[in-house]
Amino acid sequence: MGDREFDNEEMLTARLSLRRPTPTDIDVIYSIHRDPRACAHNPADMLATRADAEDLYRRWDEHWQRHGFGYWVIRPRQAREPLGFCGIKLMQFKDRKILNLLYRLDPSVWGNGLATEAATAVLGWATTQIPDHPSPPRQHRLPASRRTDRTPPRRTPRQPRRRRPRLDLHVELASESDRPY
Ligand SMILES: CC(C)(COP(=O)(O)OP(=O)(O)OC[C@H]1O[C@@H](n2cnc3c(N)ncnc32)[C@H](O)[C@@H]1OP(=O)(O)O)[C@@H](O)C(=O)NCCC(=O)NCCS
Repeated sequence: MGDREFDNEEMLTARLSLRRPTPTDIDVIYSIHRDPRACAHNPADMLATRADAEDLYRRWDEHWQRHGFGYWVIRPRQAREPLGFCGIKLMQFKDRKILNLLYRLDPSVWGNGLATEAATAVLGWATTQIPDHPSPPRQHRLPASRRTDRTPPRRTPRQPRRRRPRLDLHVELASESDRPY
């Protein structure tokens, strides 16, 4: 980890601990980003070697150093095994800076509401702690179009998501390979 520390380096939810990544997370960064299922919608995010994971970790840590937030590693509260990542990254969107919300979990834990729980914590933090940044919508939902193995909804279905053409941008901007800041 870099030498600057921030009081939001760990957040807790009912089931999860979200922690700022450290070099010990490079292996899980690699294992999840080499899984084609976890990168199906952003193939450019796939990593070929562990050295690529080291480089990705370094960029995540640079974002933390620079802005005091970034991506968190998700773990169960009572266990050490990482489940995935969730966080926000500053990016240039057309003529303004925006926060892009990312969530990527190990496929073995999909379908348990974990991404929703983690993203809710991240958005809550962003809304209260960095209100001057244009945050993703508070009622952010995971897109149903991403689901290939969809099981019946556990709750009452909400309003379907609608595409907003003015938010369209070249897909590479949403990948880890860009230079967002
Ligand atoms: C997207 C992802 C994070 C979802 O994780 P998860 O823990 O299974 O999500 P949740 O269980 O919290 O589900 C949240 C909602 O999204 C829906 N959902 C879950 N996985 C989904 C998927 N793959 N595609 C579409 N919708 C999905 C759920 O049905 C649920 O909807 P509901 O609240 O109406 O019931 C996970 O599938 C993933 O890591 N995918 C690969 C990376 C990726 O595409 N990330 C998004 C771009 S940053």
